[in-house]
Amino acid sequence: MKRVASAILPIIAIDRKVSTALHRQIYDSYRAAIVDSRLRPGQRIPSTRVLASEIGVSRFPVLNAYAQLLAEGYFESRVGAGTVVSSSLPDQLTSSQPPDAPHSATRSGPRSVARRSPILPGIEAMPWMLNWGAFRVGQVAFDQFPLHVWSTLVARRCRRMNAQSAHYGALMGSVALRKAIANYLKIARSVRCEAEQVMIVNGSQQALEIATRVLLNPGSRVWVEEPGYRLARDVFALNACHLVPVPVDSEGMDVGVGIMKCRKAQAAFVTPSHQFPLGVTMSASRRLQLVDWAQHSGSWIIEDDYDSEYRYESLPIASLQGLDANSRVIYVGTFTKVLFPSLRLGYLVIPPDLVDRFHMCRRVMDLGPPTFPQEVLADFIEEGHFARHIRRMRVLYGELRRVLVNSLAQELGSMVEVVGDEAGMHLAVMLQNGHRDMEVSKRAVRQDLSLWPLSPSYLGEAHQGFILGFGGTTMKEIPGAVRRLRNLLTT
Ligand SMILES: Cc1ncc(COP(=O)(O)O)c(C=O)c1O
Repeated sequence: MKRVASAILPIIAIDRKVSTALHRQIYDSYRAAIVDSRLRPGQRIPSTRVLASEIGVSRFPVLNAYAQLLAEGYFESRVGAGTVVSSSLPDQLTSSQPPDAPHSATRSGPRSVARRSPILPGIEAMPWMLNWGAFRVGQVAFDQFPLHVWSTLVARRCRRMNAQSAHYGALMGSVALRKAIANYLKIARSVRCEAEQVMIVNGSQQALEIATRVLLNPGSRVWVEEPGYRLARDVFALNACHLVPVPVDSEGMDVGVGIMKCRKAQAAFVTPSHQFPLGVTMSASRRLQLVDWAQHSGSWIIEDDYDSEYRYESLPIASLQGLDANSRVIYVGTFTKVLFPSLRLGYLVIPPDLVDRFHMCRRVMDLGPPTFPQEVLADFIEEGHFARHIRRMRVLYGELRRVLVNSLAQELGSMVEVVGDEAGMHLAVMLQNGHRDMEVSKRAVRQDLSLWPLSPSYLGEAHQGFILGFGGTTMKEIPGAVRRLRNLLTT
């Protein structure tokens, strides 16, 4: 038999000191909640018995109030579902205003926000972020994710839950997951780390926020890649740091230019394995130069190693952190690309002497990550599913990239230049024919294309182009999507 969901109790204001009868007070509360849309058509109403017991009155006034609300058409009875808010309320009864509108309209006076909060762009200015068209950046091939395995692990962990695991988890994250990650990073990424240095975070975005709070001050100067990852820049800017754009060329961030512009910067944010967005790999000499600069100027390097698992032609590149003998690198990783973004799990590898500071900062942020998904993920890694999934996806994404590059060459020829190495789940194309990327991206939404414009990745003079994600676009979809892109660029 289908189970009926329990009804949520609305606030029923009962005042025994006033002369208004109890049934009238109950009636008025419900009517008001329906008229101003706090209760929606079809929403279940608690039984008279439950409501009477919750608000501490006898059943009679509740029965009376319900009878009147039914008679006037506010409530209706549904077989098997009990009493619900009527689905055919006269239009004039329900307000078309959202519930908060009358309140905000009556507020007056200045409504000040922090000086820095308006630096963030409104989402409505970025329609490509809101559609599900081809080339959406960050989308993974979720149909290939071993959901059956994951579901089994979830169910198993669920059965093992107890009072202890339901309590607050460890601030740094689950021990099992930290061990599994440390083990993986040592082997696959040549990261120098022990489990004690690993902090589990809600995606690398949170890692950046914590690292900024622990390491930087308002006014601290931070080298950022130009072009670079906007969401990292925004974290530094919101924390009142001063951004120093350092150009990226075919060898990654140009450290020499960084030193010339601002030798004494407190930190550098880099994506050395697969630069975002241009896709280049930082050369060995630049890596050494960066590590050397950090050591001599007493600066920090924040290494964002977000998609290094995916390299298609060359062998994986070791992490920058592994090169650094002086513990100047804060290493950031994520499961967003290798598994899926809504998992919101990532990690930090913290230099041993800073672990306590990061730990205490985390405490005031969110009291640690949710325990349950961490345990499921630890099982997923330890039982070999993670390594298998990465191997399979590497083949698939490598193939998708190849099909995309061929289609771009075939359909667009010299109209675009593909840049970057054969890695990751996105590639960048530079526009060669005077088009404005933002304008094309806005039009592309109507063509079922999600084109992430390149120009907002620059702080200074911008190149026009697109960042094309290929993880969530199928082999079959790619040629048609590239043709639609060509049509946009030729009209
Ligand atoms: C450069 C870069 N870093 C990190 C991430 C992942 O962020 P998160 O782990 O918060 O999902 C992305 C996602 O697209 C990215 O492009």
